This record gives sequence, structure tokens and C-alpha cells, in this order.
Amino acid sequence: MSFDLVLFGGTGDLTWRKLMPALFQAFRHGKLPEGGRILAVARDERSDEAYREFIREKFTGVDEAKQPTDQEFAAFAQLLHYRRMDLSKPEHYQGLKRWIESPTSEEGRSGSRADTVVLFLATSPYLFPVICSQLGAAGLNGPHVRVVLEKPLGHDLVSAQEINRIVRASFREEQALRIDHYLGKPAVQNLMALRFGNALFEPLWRRESIANIQITIAESIGVGTRGDFYDQTGALRDMIQNHALQLLTMIAMEPPSTSDADAIRDEKLKVLRSLRPFTPETVMRDVVRGQYKAGTVDGKKVPSYLEEAKVPANSTCETFVALRTEVQSWRWAGVPFYLRTGKRLAARDAQIVVNFREVPHPIFSGTRQANKLVINLQPEDGLELHLLAAKGGGPSSNGAEVLSPVSLDLDFDKAFPSERVGAYERLLMDAITGRLNLFVRSDEQEQAWRWVEPVLDAWKADTIGPRGYVAGSWGPAAASALVARDGNVWAEEQ
Ligand code: BG6
Repeated sequence: MSFDLVLFGGTGDLTWRKLMPALFQAFRHGKLPEGGRILAVARDERSDEAYREFIREKFTGVDEAKQPTDQEFAAFAQLLHYRRMDLSKPEHYQGLKRWIESPTSEEGRSGSRADTVVLFLATSPYLFPVICSQLGAAGLNGPHVRVVLEKPLGHDLVSAQEINRIVRASFREEQALRIDHYLGKPAVQNLMALRFGNALFEPLWRRESIANIQITIAESIGVGTRGDFYDQTGALRDMIQNHALQLLTMIAMEPPSTSDADAIRDEKLKVLRSLRPFTPETVMRDVVRGQYKAGTVDGKKVPSYLEEAKVPANSTCETFVALRTEVQSWRWAGVPFYLRTGKRLAARDAQIVVNFREVPHPIFSGTRQANKLVINLQPEDGLELHLLAAKGGGPSSNGAEVLSPVSLDLDFDKAFPSERVGAYERLLMDAITGRLNLFVRSDEQEQAWRWVEPVLDAWKADTIGPRGYVAGSWGPAAASALVARDGNVWAEEQ
């Protein structure tokens, strides 16, 4: 299956930091279909050779194990092409169309158009409307074409709907692939496999056995050079509306009837529709927002958010959110779902913790909360099942057996050493081969906006602003109080 992959924003950050390294890994793993071309599109004039050199230099910044040898790069570079485009000019889209329709014999596909054309919009989102409508006007929207859209897709429900309306005017829903790179992470595929490829957990996956679920996406980095973008966005829009909610849908969805993309996405949408809606009062009670102050992360002193470049000195933008919600269904009624994310936290750590209920009648001394399942997304992916076991040292002086925590650890890097594929590599391959399971449908995305909007509105009306937390901590104390109200603690305090 031949393909053309066009990267709009071909010299931008996303392209060289994430997409090109992922494409190279796919190439190295022999996963890129034969007869492919990758075309980077950007504003300035440069030759294919100059572009290849630009990418080669950028590759020196990626993890050593992922860097190409000279020979590997020379082979990969043959796939790379560059084209200057002014994205407002219809004739430039006609030029692109000609390039797509008439590959040269040097490119190994003389005259024959690729089976699949993937147009990846790795540009600033304000360009999406113009690019999509120009692509449609140029006829670059045939059935063999897919368009990939990167977040942020809007900053509220109305702006997201507007983008979807424009995309829909040129492309059918199944041609528009919205990326949430968290869905490409191997741990998320393992969550699907765990839940729907094994019979073991399903009978327990409900309110009768599960006490609460915690989803944490902690980052130790600050906002870096993205201060201006971040200050307009904040943690709720940047991480909760998309990544954290997508993880929640994967945990809470009902078993889909098939593995088809729409069967899965229908179930995810039902979860989003079942989330308890926020009111101004419940936002104040169930949502904690924070902003980092100066502190120490990984042994280094770091500045406060307000001291970061391009951040206004009086900003009330949140860099941390913790919230409590419920999925209103027979399966989940009454089970708290805690979501938490933040920058400049104690560690880079993304995990989902499923806390099972305590034993109904204890006969051993010590803790009653025995079981939890931890799905680790980052820094390593894996699964841990925590149990209590007898150490074998005999009973304590009062005659009672004391149990100790042990865990069954599944380390997927060890179990499948040659099969590990990064999130962007997986999603790019899925975009090329047309597997839509891991892309977000427009109705899911809009429903997620609908759910977070009351929080944004309540914050607009609130004069207190975010609570400070010291960089390198686990966020404001109010986040611990939020779970303590239900008699719970966050995973790192257990
Ligand atoms: C992006 C956010 O979507 O995800 C960033 O815009 C964040 O702010 C990043 O740092 C985190 O992704 P990952 O894969 O490094 O956890």
C-alpha cells in the first residue's frame, strides 16, 4: 500500500520533535509501507536536500537509542521532500495536488498516485479553517484522503464546533482523525487488552468491587518556552479536557460489541455523557486549581509560574487541577473518579489506580485495603496488581498473622522487548493504514468540552484564583483534602 504523508507545519516543533522521530522509528521497525513519500510543507523556500539536513540536525537531540546511523538516515531521507506553500493561496494547493498526483520515477512510483494520502495539520490551530477549506476547494478531499488534526481543537465548545463545522464542509467524519496522543500510549492498548481480552477482571469492574479510581498525569517540567500559549490554555484545557478524560472513558466504558472504531467510540461517548455535570457550587467543592510557586525539582531550583517567560505577572492561569467526578450509570454509581494533572510536580508520573474495596470481614490484623490495580503509563508502562500475603515469619506476639503488601508486576518492556512502539509512531501508522480506533470522534470531543465548560465559567466568576503549591510537591493541600473528604488518599500517600 503506497502512501503520501503531507506535514503542514513541516519546520515546526511538533514535526521535528515528535513526528519525524516517530516516522523514523516506524521506518527502522520496517512498519512504513513501501512506496511512501513524506512531504513537509512550510513558508520558507528550501530544497529537499536542505530540509533533509535540517531534520538530520534535529535528530541529534533525540534519545541516543532512537538516533539513526548515517546509513539509516541516508535511506530514510530518500522519503523526505519539501515544498514551500503560502497557505492562503489556492494556486499553491493546486501545485500540491499536482505533486500528489504525479510522482516521478525517481520516487519509485512513476505516474501512479498513492493509495492513501494523509494530510497532517501540525500547524497552529488558527490555520485549520483556511487549510481545510482550501484543501476542499482544490479537490484534495477524495475518499483516499485523510486529514489529521492535532490538539488544541478549540478553546471551548463553540470554537470546537466551529472547527468541526469547517472540517466537515470538506471531509467526512471518517476522513478526519483527531489525535489525542495519550490514546497511542502502549499502556492504553494494554488497558483495552486487560479489560476485553481477559475474562478475569470484568466481573470485578464495577461499583460492587471498586472503591475509587484515580487518574494522575503528573509532569515535573514547567511551561518552558510555551508561556504565552499555556497562559491562554491552562491545565484544564491542556490535559483534562482531552488526555485525562480519554483515559477515564477507557477505564469506564462498557464492553463494545466489536473492535470497530465506532463501536468503541460509541461506548466512550456514553461515558462522557454520563459524567455528573458540574454546577457553580460543585465546581467550588469538587475542583481544585493550583499554580506553582518557586521550588526544587529533581534537585534543581526552579522559578514560579509567574516568573516564567511570556507569562503575565498577575496571571491566574492554573498549572494544576484535581477534581472529583462520578459516572452516573448502574456500573459506576457512587464510585468517585479522581482526576489530577499538573506541571512542576514531584515526578513525571502518569498512572491509573483502581482501588478495590476492603475485605468485608477482616480476620488478619493490619490494613484492610488490600487490592489495587495500577496501570502505569509513564515513565515506564506496565501493570501492577497489589495484594496482601503472609510473609511466612509466623504470627506476631499477639498471635495474629500480619500480612504484607506484595505486587504482581508486569513489565511490558521486558515481556515484549522488540515490540514497543511510541505513541506517535502508533498513531501515524494507524492514520496511514486507516485504523480509526485510537482517534477521537467529533461528538466525543464536543461532549468533553460541554462537560468542562461549567468549570471554566465558574473560575471566571471566582475572585480567589488558583492555590499556590511549591514546585516539586504533589500540588496544593486542597487536593489531598478533596479525596480525604471521601475517606481516601492519593496513591503516593497510601
Ligand atoms: C500535551 C500538552 O498535550 O501533552 C503538554 O500540551 C504536555 O503541555 C504533554 O506536556 C504531555 O505529554 P507526555 O506524552 O509527555 O506525557
